[in-house]
Amino acid sequence: MRIDVLSIFPSYFDGLTLSLLGKAQATGLLDLKVRDLREWTSDRHRTVDDTPYGGGAGMVMKPEPWGLALDELAATSSDEPPTIIFPSPAGEVFTQKTARQLSTRQHLIFGCGRYEGIDERVFEYAAALGEVRLVSLGDYVLNGGEVATMAMIEAIGRLIPGVVGNPESLVEESHEDGLLEYPSYTKPSVWRERAVPDVLLSGNHAVIASWRHEQQLERTRRRRPDLLPDEEPTER
Ligand code: ADE
Repeated sequence: MRIDVLSIFPSYFDGLTLSLLGKAQATGLLDLKVRDLREWTSDRHRTVDDTPYGGGAGMVMKPEPWGLALDELAATSSDEPPTIIFPSPAGEVFTQKTARQLSTRQHLIFGCGRYEGIDERVFEYAAALGEVRLVSLGDYVLNGGEVATMAMIEAIGRLIPGVVGNPESLVEESHEDGLLEYPSYTKPSVWRERAVPDVLLSGNHAVIASWRHEQQLERTRRRRPDLLPDEEPTER
């Protein structure tokens, strides 16, 4: 998979050379390039922002550097047009389902906005170059798209076949089956007077599997009832 990131703070992404995603880049499973949006400016100050039409607080990102950058990146897209993702608190919420969808694409471009946002015409223009998605990490406001982009790249990147060594570990995770993950324990069997649940020491795999499923349901009900389908109304 190819991923291009456009940002005015490229060094945010230095951490993505570590760990599993670093290895995925070294082995060629992931071709990740982070580009400074200012490469596509031509004035002495490498200006990427300007005051908003209609007035108001803050600055807006100018369309031209975005237009030039997207033209260049989309022109080198291989068979299928790129999917262009703009992290935004005003976008659809990013979930494991979004990560799964995006992990099947050949070329993703992340456009990290700053300040009060990007000139709206950039989104319209980008839609002519590929599929545009405005995606939010959640209902809170970050200073820009960089941290959200890193989170999304990590969630998407680990779903690329071969990136996570043991594919079974992907299946048993929180959100993969719509439920939260069951609790895990390792040695010692008693730690600071707390014992591992007996069932896990029983060696009975069917009983363990059913206990784990119960735990998943119980945790999801308690912590994230919004993930469960509405329960049947009880008869009176
Ligand atoms: N940029 C600022 N806040 C954001 C959020 N919650 N999600 C994605 N991008 C953002």
